[in-house]
Amino acid sequence: MSPTATNTNAAQDDGGPSPLSLVLSYPNLTSPSTIASLRRAMVGLGFFYLSDSPLESERDRLFALTRRFFSSNHTSPEEKRSIEQEKSRHFRGWSGLGLEHTQDKPDNREQIDLGIESPAFPQGLQPHYLNLYGPNQFPASIPELRDAVLSYMEKAEEVTVHLTKAIEMALGVEEGRLGDCLGLEGKEEGFEKIKALAQRSTPPTDAELEDALPRFLPYERMKLVKYGSEGNPQGVGAHRDGGWITLLATDQQPGLQVEDVAGQWIDVPYKPGCILVNFGQQLERVSSGLIRAATHRVHIYPSPDGRVSLPYFSMPSLRAVIDPIPRGEMSAEALQEEESRDAEKRMGGRKTVVPEGDLHGSATEEFGHTAWRSLIRSHPNTFQRWYGKVGA
Ligand SMILES: [Fe+2]
Repeated sequence: MSPTATNTNAAQDDGGPSPLSLVLSYPNLTSPSTIASLRRAMVGLGFFYLSDSPLESERDRLFALTRRFFSSNHTSPEEKRSIEQEKSRHFRGWSGLGLEHTQDKPDNREQIDLGIESPAFPQGLQPHYLNLYGPNQFPASIPELRDAVLSYMEKAEEVTVHLTKAIEMALGVEEGRLGDCLGLEGKEEGFEKIKALAQRSTPPTDAELEDALPRFLPYERMKLVKYGSEGNPQGVGAHRDGGWITLLATDQQPGLQVEDVAGQWIDVPYKPGCILVNFGQQLERVSSGLIRAATHRVHIYPSPDGRVSLPYFSMPSLRAVIDPIPRGEMSAEALQEEESRDAEKRMGGRKTVVPEGDLHGSATEEFGHTAWRSLIRSHPNTFQRWYGKVGA
């Protein structure tokens, strides 16, 4: 018997019925029965559990080092400030409680923001999203954190590529139709071009820049997060991730909630041996809305020690223009699965507190502009420090 999806009573183990009971097996991801379950997750809440992924071998080390960083016994406030995010024009580094905003309200969490480790473009170039490339900031007292993060991100990239292939199968579109949006094949060549740009003694003209820019700028981010243990109940406010696929490893403490189609919040319990996967708004857009970007939030339940989580965000290439795939090019199975949204249609659409498509780009816009809007909205202080005078 293949250990594929369950959509039955898995939630009974978690203390109550939940539509969030899909567990897909990574080793069997492309089997027909798992693809069928993946389709259900795509048109449903946009959230599922993934078991036995390559991240399982990486997560314990990264959780241990993350906890060490956030422990007041280990890291002094001065050391945290030495890598604060506001010091990085690439939006990388530590930020304290309340500094990130969601839905215009402060989030009760502290975190280290990380991204693809790459050379930086020279300062002052347009478009602004070129500033999203650059080095990370790591704490000097935990030298092994750098390797743990980069190796985790490498595995997460592998999981993303495999999941993207499975989604292509579930939609019934040709191989590469979605994977090409990620632009990963252009990574090394891109780095070389950026290094060459950075070594120039004079800034390039617009025409020279267009010529020198890599065709792809693959992009990914992750966070090491420690939520508050009391006070402001908004750990992170309701939102839909703005990227492609999010891979979330959590500890056992409760707090994560997903919004169902009626606008009710459902607790997402921890499952051992699994990470959570949710779809972002660029997959929603490229699938013409067939795939759902899940609306979710983190609620603070008072606890002796705050919840820790490791979200990884895969994204399209910053240079990708997200072109919606017409319904007519998808398989009959995919379109049939979408019909299961009957209940939602009867209600006149999903009830939600987040505006639909708030991070969808326009028909001609490169994804980088969307990524930039998303970050400057979440991190107003860093934006103000580096870019406030020149505008977005
Ligand atoms: Fe999220």
